Amino acid sequence: MADDWPQALLQRIVFPWLVDARIELAVLRLDCIDPSVNGNKPFKLAGYLAEARARDADTLISLGGPYSNHLHALASVGRREGFHTVGLVRGHPCRTPTIDDLEACGMHLHWLGYQGYRERHRPGFWDDWLARYPTAMEIPEGGGGLMGAVGCSPIVDLIRKSLHAVDWPEYDQIWIAAGTGTTLAGLVLAEAGAHPVVGALAVPCDHGVPENVGQIFAAAMRTNMRYRLVDASRRGFGRVDDELLGFMRTCEAQCGVPLEPIYTAKTLLALKQAVEANALEAGSRIVFVHTGGLQGRRGFDVY
Ligand SMILES: Cc1ncc(COP(=O)(O)O)c(C=O)c1O
Repeated sequence: MADDWPQALLQRIVFPWLVDARIELAVLRLDCIDPSVNGNKPFKLAGYLAEARARDADTLISLGGPYSNHLHALASVGRREGFHTVGLVRGHPCRTPTIDDLEACGMHLHWLGYQGYRERHRPGFWDDWLARYPTAMEIPEGGGGLMGAVGCSPIVDLIRKSLHAVDWPEYDQIWIAAGTGTTLAGLVLAEAGAHPVVGALAVPCDHGVPENVGQIFAAAMRTNMRYRLVDASRRGFGRVDDELLGFMRTCEAQCGVPLEPIYTAKTLLALKQAVEANALEAGSRIVFVHTGGLQGRRGFDVY
């Protein structure tokens, strides 16, 4: 897949609130790397796909909600790479554009309800599903865990290799959305302290992101990693308000980069708030990683 990706993924973007603070921003357009499997998803899934091939699994099974970017990417990549796919979906049967796409890709869906979905943390949960699909390999929710994080480490190489496109000799910080913190952890591991990575939390602060990131570092046997989390959640995962949507529309009009309200627009809004609070030094060069998720935007009345 990676051979087909555009080389210069970094693009300068300018907003009035950056100019006033003399801060430069470049966006890493992971949303552009492929029409259906893009953003952080090809990275988070890469190790799992290799593992499935090594184990001779012919089916990939995972979990997500009815707008899940993860299931969307899994269904597409499964169809492309010759795997059957099974999606365990949170809640009760409903139609969303994402569900339509999953079915069009041939993903077999099981609706778990809400209580059934909470069971995913019960020991033995996967054993039951693997008894039903004996040739399948399970992928944790969102493609998390060390394997997902390690798959994201090459994103830092992409930044380094693309710096020439924005005429920067260096960068000072990376900003990226964090849901579970898996993608962030992969970047932090790859940076190994060279540059700070800031994770803009798309979930409230008590949703276990530091614990998850800590577990990934422990599994990788690494300590003293350099990262910071800021609350970008606006009081709930998936919670969208008029200020956020207005900000998103303005940003899109000013820079021409499509965003979505759950991860990327929240990250940029948190960055703006940090800039306005003078939390960033004048002259800083910031890389904002666009983690994709644009398919999920169809669930919102954005305009
Ligand atoms: C578009 C998008 N951005 C960011 C994230 C956050 O990724 P992570 O769970 O690895 O923190 C997700 C979830 O996977 C996502 O779908």
